[in-house]
Amino acid sequence: MNYYETLFKRKSFHLFIGGEPTTEDDLKLINSFIKEVKPLYNDIKTEIIIVPEKETTCHRGADYCILFYSEQKGEYLRNIGYIGEQIDLYLNSIGIGALWFGIGKPKEARNNGLEYVIMIAIKRMPSNSFRKDMFKSKRKPIDEIWSGESIDDVTNIVRFAPSACNTQPWYVENKNNELFIYRYKKPGKRGIMPIDKVIYYNRIDIGIFLFILEVCLNHKGISFIRKLYLDESTAETEKTLVALFNAD
Ligand SMILES: Cc1cc2nc3c(=O)[nH]c(=O)nc-3n(C[C@H](O)[C@H](O)[C@H](O)COP(=O)(O)O)c2cc1C
Repeated sequence: MNYYETLFKRKSFHLFIGGEPTTEDDLKLINSFIKEVKPLYNDIKTEIIIVPEKETTCHRGADYCILFYSEQKGEYLRNIGYIGEQIDLYLNSIGIGALWFGIGKPKEARNNGLEYVIMIAIKRMPSNSFRKDMFKSKRKPIDEIWSGESIDDVTNIVRFAPSACNTQPWYVENKNNELFIYRYKKPGKRGIMPIDKVIYYNRIDIGIFLFILEVCLNHKGISFIRKLYLDESTAETEKTLVALFNAD
């Protein structure tokens, strides 16, 4: 599948209105895709299962919810964001509407010894209901998320990554093709979410952002060496270095 092309039509279906039933064949396709996803960290155990929406607290008119479970170690939230965004883009590419649903809870908080992390609600949606003009979606201006030289088809596109409450908690510094990626938290800013929740979701958002950044770099044929850093910051830290991409 072409991840880059799909970025332009991807959107969150906050309500699944006017969709079609998600079929058994759809579920087979999704389950076989799930087997192929590439984790950011190979040593963190995860399990991804699909359950009917009614077995969760999600009531957005979806058919099913994809539940992500993980071992709670290291950057497991970032890992789930990175894996989940591959699935999110795949779903959008085959006409299945999706919603990362942070506030949702499943029946089972544990599965095979792994802890529940987050879900993505899904339903097959009409092809004309996907995003038509990505550039019209609300995002921070480039200078709030990127400093140093911008990269065509990368800088301008990565900023459309989805994030919890559209917080966009990322910042990139390009220093001679070394991309320093930070998790960014505006000092003192309090949104509608409690601070511990913000940090939890924003760590997932960073995984989503890293995957989309890689999609953009790959699309441009820019090879890179990726170095990942542990995010050990507290709630008040403004900028936390999470990754360094040595691009050429
Ligand atoms: C980790 C994560 C959690 C989210 N949780 C929710 C949620 O609980 N409820 C909701 O309506 N949208 C949720 N969203 C969707 C965001 O609101 C949405 O991605 C953002 O507003 C950008 O819009 P877009 O995805 O259509 O580009 C979540 C997104 C992410 C990435």
